Amino acid sequence: MYYLDNAATTYPKPQSVLDKVYDAMKNYGANPGRSGHKLALKANREVYDARVMLSKFFNIKDPFNLIFTPNCTTSLNIAINGTLHEGDHVITTSMEHNSVLRPIKHLESIGVENTIVFADEEGFVSKDDILKSIKPNTKMIAITHVSNLTGTIMPIEEIGKISKEKGILFLVDASQSAGIYPIDVERMNIDFLAFPGHKGLLGPQGTGGLFIRDSLLTDTIIQGGTGSDSYSIFQPEIMPDKFESGTLNMPGIVGLKEGLNYILERGIEDIQKKEEELTEYFIMELSKIDGVKIYGPSDLKKRAGVIPINILDLDSSELAYILDEKYDICVRPGLHCAPLAHKTINTFEQGAVRFSIGPFNTFEDIEYSIKSIYEIRRQI
Ligand code: ALA
Repeated sequence: MYYLDNAATTYPKPQSVLDKVYDAMKNYGANPGRSGHKLALKANREVYDARVMLSKFFNIKDPFNLIFTPNCTTSLNIAINGTLHEGDHVITTSMEHNSVLRPIKHLESIGVENTIVFADEEGFVSKDDILKSIKPNTKMIAITHVSNLTGTIMPIEEIGKISKEKGILFLVDASQSAGIYPIDVERMNIDFLAFPGHKGLLGPQGTGGLFIRDSLLTDTIIQGGTGSDSYSIFQPEIMPDKFESGTLNMPGIVGLKEGLNYILERGIEDIQKKEEELTEYFIMELSKIDGVKIYGPSDLKKRAGVIPINILDLDSSELAYILDEKYDICVRPGLHCAPLAHKTINTFEQGAVRFSIGPFNTFEDIEYSIKSIYEIRRQI
């Protein structure tokens, strides 16, 4: 089996992550932050440690400003739906996933305006186009760090600077970058950092997080039990409880912590370098095959290990099916929940077959994929 669908979720996960999840469920699977017994305290301590570790990783000064969520979509929904109100304006881009576009479009019905800045054919958004879109009522700029379709790395540091200068909140979707590319919320002037736990951070599915710089500017979108202020029927304002109603996914969060441990031990630079080397080799070799179209940045220094391709006009789902059935290669075809990104690169009708490289892919995986694509192309 050749797994090249790491942009959807990283697989496999380190064995240490699997072991830690099992250990948490078997040996201290109590409810963190609720009862006061030994097991609940141990569970709570583990969650706190994960919060602290992730905060250090992203240079978040106060770990209580990092909340845990079930996935990055929930994180993005909290940041967008909880912060924008009637009369506000938000700027986003054509390279966003539906987890950004749909909440923003939904808010149109309550009078939130939006501007969608279109990227060029390689997926790059110009900071001048963002600047030109700013209006007196612009409250937020929401952008992905790395496109889940083209792997384009966005100039988030420059956009963060603009946001800060203009007093606009800056939301970064780190779905495809957290755990692979360094992120520093201070240096990059990020006000909201939304990330999944199960992709680059190597945790289990069902985990995610959101950094909220100023929790007073954002309402929670879910109310409920927090284990705190239980005398009150109103949602507490204290962090992180304001945004963490309901039982947390403690075993998942423990697994996420272990995923981060793996990254820290191996070194994020090593993961980034390896993925970049494999990406470069893959693209160089694929570009020699006549009839194979590769999308995304031609400057390989500006792209992550996400490589969408098509062979002639072969339907992308059919190609993915052949790769799976005949060659045992796992990839994702279609529109990748990013319809405007596909419109940007002119693949809305055909879709594209996305290969996405992870920390455990090898040179052999890439070589085999190239040979398989070559063979399929010859048979068309
Ligand atoms: N957002 C994930 C992807 O791009 C699931 O495949």
